[in-house]
Amino acid sequence: MFDSTLIDSLLIRIFRFRTRGFLRMTECDGALPPRPRTGGCYLYVHIPFCEALCPFCSFHRVLLCRPQAHRYFTALRREIELYHQAGFEFSGVYFGGGTPTVEPEELLETIALVRKRFAVRDISVETNPRDLRPPLLAQLRRGGVTRLSVGVQSFDDTLLREMGRFEKYGSGAEIADHIRGAAGLFPTLNVDLIFNLPHQTLASLERDLDLFQTLGANQVSCYPLMTSPAGLRRMAGAMGVPDRRRLRQFYQTIGRRLAPGFAPTSAWCFTRNGGGSDEYIATADNYVGAGSGAFSYLDGTLYSTTFSLAAYEQRIAGGLTGIVTKHQLGDTERMRYALLVRMFGLGLDREWARQHYGPGFFRRLWGELFTLEVLGAAIRDPRGWRLTESGRYWLMLMMAEFFQSVNTYRDAMRDHVQTEQATWGPVARVGHIQAGA
Ligand SMILES: C[S@@+](CC[C@H](N)C(=O)[O-])C[C@H]1O[C@@H](n2cnc3c(N)ncnc32)[C@H](O)[C@@H]1O
Ligand code: SF4
Repeated sequence: MFDSTLIDSLLIRIFRFRTRGFLRMTECDGALPPRPRTGGCYLYVHIPFCEALCPFCSFHRVLLCRPQAHRYFTALRREIELYHQAGFEFSGVYFGGGTPTVEPEELLETIALVRKRFAVRDISVETNPRDLRPPLLAQLRRGGVTRLSVGVQSFDDTLLREMGRFEKYGSGAEIADHIRGAAGLFPTLNVDLIFNLPHQTLASLERDLDLFQTLGANQVSCYPLMTSPAGLRRMAGAMGVPDRRRLRQFYQTIGRRLAPGFAPTSAWCFTRNGGGSDEYIATADNYVGAGSGAFSYLDGTLYSTTFSLAAYEQRIAGGLTGIVTKHQLGDTERMRYALLVRMFGLGLDREWARQHYGPGFFRRLWGELFTLEVLGAAIRDPRGWRLTESGRYWLMLMMAEFFQSVNTYRDAMRDHVQTEQATWGPVARVGHIQAGA
């Protein structure tokens, strides 16, 4: 019998090696990227403001300053208009953060603009438990929001205190009440939970999952705690240090505890009755990231916008996008990226791969596909490769690894504008960012 932890770390090492070039970003001029030639396109809109900052959080977020937020939203809408004028078409939009609902009127105006300009079917918005107020919920629903995603992380009061969220968003019981109040209002109501928090026990996670299933939400995203060097430093005091060796046990508990009511729709998302996946990164061929600290992926090129809010405003005022760096993936890299995100979304369709990458896809990636099969991570059928239960665990690890490298990149970009982000003062040097990951 093999040692599963050894296999996990070996797989991750290989994965790291094979994907080491994904984020080799270099500076670029911020001109509009070309429209994608193949496949559909999604719009991601980043709202980096939060009323308080959580130590574990790996996203691009800054303390809310209302005048700054108003200026930011104005720039954001101009950037969205730029993409419209350039002929981009989006099938859906995802408002992520930060906390997109910090300035509801601005958000609603931005949603209205997106709906006016593009034929979007899905409108997804992230929020926090305190913003689940009935009037705002009604406005969001009237505004066309189809999926509301609430950051809960845990219902355990001790863990909420450690994360600094108890004071901000209330106790686990209060958060549960807020979610009950939002149940049934949106086609999808998603709850974010985090597992492998340093002081989390299996029993605590089980209680979270049991409570979640009584609330009427129809989706749960269970993220492994993802860290970066800066994140680990921030967490070290109140929260402690996570232990990777517990990941498998936590992950298996999640799948078991949520079945049969909730089925996986990606390696870390579970939906009631197995409804469709909401992970645009796994389903959209291309996506445009608008706002500060957002990523785009268009025809095999990855782009990142500036993490400086001042630079972002200046660039938009100058008729540019927020884009400051890019990396054009090589052919094999693009195929590996497609394999990663598709398998993360539970399977790779043979015909889809052939149409997008030609028969060379199977020749170049035979090693990866063979490894997935031999390990029992995927099974091959006439349509393609389907992820198995153990495969889901490995893809969760790989996606977490990928996001951790994104987090390291974010750290580097934020270091660059640290003074600005701490003080809201003017930036000395803007739009000039060079970072590798
Ligand atoms: C950008 S937040 C938006 C939600 C909202 N701001 C809140 O916190 O309530 C989206 C989700 O990312 C997840 N997240 C943030 N940092 C994470 C980390 N270091 N590891 C794993 N998940 C994380 C959390 O589950 C969070 O709810
Ligand atoms: S977890 Fe949510 S509220 Fe906390 S800092 Fe991150 S984005 Fe802001």
